[in-house]
Amino acid sequence: MEICFVASECSPFIKVGGLADVVGSLPQALTRNGAHCCVVVPLYKKINDNYGHQLTYLGEYPVDINYTQRIVKVMGMDKDGVTYFFIQHAGYFEREGGIYGFMDDGERFAFFQKAVMELFRAINYWPDVIHCHDWHTGMIPCMLKENYWYDSRYNRMKTVYTIHNLAYQGNFPKSMLDSCLGLSFRLFDNGNVRFDGGISFMKTGIVYADKVTTVSPNYAREILTSEYGEHLDQVLMMRGSDLWGIVNGIDTSVWNPTTDNHLAYNFDRENWQEGKAANKAALQKQLGLDEDPHCFVLGMVTRLVDQKGIELVIQQMDEIVKMPMQLVILGNGNAEYERILTDCENGNKGKICFYNGYNEPLSHLIYGACDGFLMPSKFEPCGISQLISMRYGTLPIVRETGGLKDTVNPYNMFNGDGNGFSFYQYDGLDMKEAIWRALAVYYDVPQHWTNLVYHALDTDVSWDHSAGIYMDLYHNLGVW
Ligand code: ADP
Ligand code: GLC
Repeated sequence: MEICFVASECSPFIKVGGLADVVGSLPQALTRNGAHCCVVVPLYKKINDNYGHQLTYLGEYPVDINYTQRIVKVMGMDKDGVTYFFIQHAGYFEREGGIYGFMDDGERFAFFQKAVMELFRAINYWPDVIHCHDWHTGMIPCMLKENYWYDSRYNRMKTVYTIHNLAYQGNFPKSMLDSCLGLSFRLFDNGNVRFDGGISFMKTGIVYADKVTTVSPNYAREILTSEYGEHLDQVLMMRGSDLWGIVNGIDTSVWNPTTDNHLAYNFDRENWQEGKAANKAALQKQLGLDEDPHCFVLGMVTRLVDQKGIELVIQQMDEIVKMPMQLVILGNGNAEYERILTDCENGNKGKICFYNGYNEPLSHLIYGACDGFLMPSKFEPCGISQLISMRYGTLPIVRETGGLKDTVNPYNMFNGDGNGFSFYQYDGLDMKEAIWRALAVYYDVPQHWTNLVYHALDTDVSWDHSAGIYMDLYHNLGVW
């Protein structure tokens, strides 16, 4: 079974959010289940800077775009049983300043997808399944069926399209069909790729893939409603039983408090209390928080975007500063959120810390050091951060939405059951009450808190179960 993952992010090479965590760890889990996996991503500048010397040149070939031809090179690397292919084109991918948010993102990812379609022929590699992830790869199932059907080597391939976030859709003018994608306007006229007067990479992936998945069963149900469907609920409904919700796991060897060298003190189930104390002390010192070993520390590691419920935190800040706790937020994104959170820190030094940026080592220390981890998301397809938190004995406080609902079992005050805390309404007061519930258990019922931490540490956040479901899904495609 040969599976080819295609995505715009892949840890440890390039990461913006949870997509990278998934693409960087699910293939290894599938390998343990007997599949062989390749991963194709663009060769961004950061990858070239950090890994360029480890890559092998595998070939080059022309790709049509904007009525001209551009040459791409393919670079390769084997790591942990997985083969990585990097599509190199300096003009499109080796730019300064992040990997998204350029005026020509549509053209860049159209080019990437065309280059992937030609890659198979260029290096004579013929996977059984192309597994595409998010809008950046949504046109591949369509290109395969519309433009390559006549070639039996392509014709036998099946496609899976995984939606990590329905809110980012890749919607562009219809002219791109001809100029960048090499697809017929017929597909606009018949509605297959049409969306809101233009074309949608996301919709096209949903329409054309043999199977569509998303990253938790609850989100799979939610996106069939107008509240969460981002105007694609009707299209998703048409896919009926081809839409699967499979919950994410994490790489438990990368995220492992026993070996994590970004922690000040490694710990396991036996000595988690010592571990928390030592890491908390290190975090407080590093970030200039009051060095109080008894104070509850609440963490957030997040992209600062509407999805994540940052507005609820800002709205409740006056209350939060009065609570018996410290708050650490690591994140970047929306400039207005960054400005407000900087002000919050400035007015509450020692109690609130906002670290503005993307910082992987610090994220590990936060997961290891905090007592609670806050995710008041407006919507959350799965969420990786709450899984990491539990792995580090840090109890998630989450809104009951998407995958947060599937993965966090809220505290039951009567029998002490649960591995975190939750609230239902997207509302600041409800969030504040959930934080208070956590504080009350932490300070007043320490035995229950200890049990909750054990439940969190014992929660299976690995890929073991979900990788088996992906294997079933691939078998369902009828290739073998
Ligand atoms: P999303 O993919 O929507 O951003 P997830 O919870 O699925 O949310 O995944 C977020 C991932 O990105 C986690 O691994 C988290 O630790 C990481 N992350 C987010 N923001 C930062 C940051 N500022 N610095 C370091 N890591 C971050
Ligand atoms: C997206 C979602 C997040 C999910 C991640 C990985 O970024 O926002 O909820 O965990 O993809 O699937």
